[in-house]
Amino acid sequence: MINLLEKMNEAKAYIESKIDVKPEMGLILGSGLGILADEIEAPVKIKYSEIPHFPVSTVEGHEGQFVIGQLKGKTVIAMQGRFHYYEGYTMQEITFPVRVLKALGVNHVLLTNAAGGTNESFSGGTLMLITDQINIMGHSPLMGPNESSLGPRFPDVSTIYSPSFNARVLEEAKALDIDLKQGVYFYFTGPAYETPAEVRLAKMLGGDAVGMSTAPEALVAAHMGMKVTGISCITNMAAGIQKTALNHQEVVEVANRVQGTFIKLVNRIVEIA
Ligand code: HPA
Repeated sequence: MINLLEKMNEAKAYIESKIDVKPEMGLILGSGLGILADEIEAPVKIKYSEIPHFPVSTVEGHEGQFVIGQLKGKTVIAMQGRFHYYEGYTMQEITFPVRVLKALGVNHVLLTNAAGGTNESFSGGTLMLITDQINIMGHSPLMGPNESSLGPRFPDVSTIYSPSFNARVLEEAKALDIDLKQGVYFYFTGPAYETPAEVRLAKMLGGDAVGMSTAPEALVAAHMGMKVTGISCITNMAAGIQKTALNHQEVVEVANRVQGTFIKLVNRIVEIA
């Protein structure tokens, strides 16, 4: 059977055959946030479905392609759409693109997502810089044989979301007059939104936002020694806190509403990275 390194190399070789630049930073764009890829200059687009060993994205609002080009003087590779565990893939499959980013030479990833707010000082449209994450779903993308040439069996994740870089992001947000909050991302597999009791649990355990992505990708990036930055767009208050029913359309609408601010912030993050 073909192993992880071989799969990474084949995917990398395919992407490299389509571009003549070397990506420096990776951007993973969450629900309703994919529009950021339109800011990328001289874009080359590569559909995931063309790339060897890539799963195919199934979620509405997720385009399912890489967009590679220039943003703020850096060569970036953006993922317009990502893979989620709830789609039925394995944890290793959903995080394979992060492995490929590393193979391409990317050492810093910005992970973005739409999330529900459990911190009651948040509201729909709040942007939250992720300081840490909680994954007690019982699954980790690092389970199974460890590829020691990529990273250690027992990676240290005490500074998974670079605290020093986060401090700079907060300063820049302030300078841009963006009210960037901070908090802990609590991962649920979904695909159902959480029950109010699950939201109370997440809150009690220290979560400020709940969401169905990002945490597995952050673990895989950290495993390979990549710098990780995360931003959640709080599109709704989590179930039970918000009194109205949750739905994906609202998530996408609110994410679209904060697009302008989000783009401004991401541009600056790429600039200072
Ligand atoms: N829960 C989980 N994921 C989400 C939410 C939520 O409330 N909103 C947007 N993504």
